Amino acid sequence: MLPRELISSQKIATRVRELAKEIDAGLPPGPVTVVGVLRGAFMFMADLVRELPREIVCDFLAVRSYGDATVSSGVVEITADLQTPIAGRHVLLVEDIVDTGLTMRYLLDFLRARGPASLHTCVMLRKRVAAAHSTPVDFLAFDDLPDQFLVGYGLDAAQIYRNLSYIGAIERQSA
Ligand code: PRP
Repeated sequence: MLPRELISSQKIATRVRELAKEIDAGLPPGPVTVVGVLRGAFMFMADLVRELPREIVCDFLAVRSYGDATVSSGVVEITADLQTPIAGRHVLLVEDIVDTGLTMRYLLDFLRARGPASLHTCVMLRKRVAAAHSTPVDFLAFDDLPDQFLVGYGLDAAQIYRNLSYIGAIERQSA
């Protein structure tokens, strides 16, 4: 059975176009390095950068957070680094979801240490839980998602469901 739909592909497409306009208006002028966090952000980032009328370098970080398939552990490790320098560049960090916020806070410190000219964050989904709201986010597609296990449009449960064109929810114990 496919996961229950929370946000349709049509709603995602409309919101991504709006968000790209907000980002273009909100970032300093000039070229931008867009940094996607693998693997969850790949689909969101692919759609987002196509809507951004800028000179863009696409780069990626791979991150592993320890824990089981459905619960954040709070321990973050960079498993693949950027392939391009970001010192002096405008950087937009693109994440699929903020849950506890630990990954985002860790990555902001990691990128800031490289001396970008500016550093902004763009997140596809933020959960309703208080911890998610304590994390700074500059551009957000969808807010206040229920505290369920979210899948689709890049998000996985034990590596499946990333290919769904919509965002859905599954029961935690079925992951
Ligand atoms: C997920 C997601 C974020 C992080 C958010 O990554 O992509 O990076 O968890 O959780 P937090 O706010 O509690 O830190 P995951 O480890 O599932 O890897 P993935 O992107 O490969 O799916």
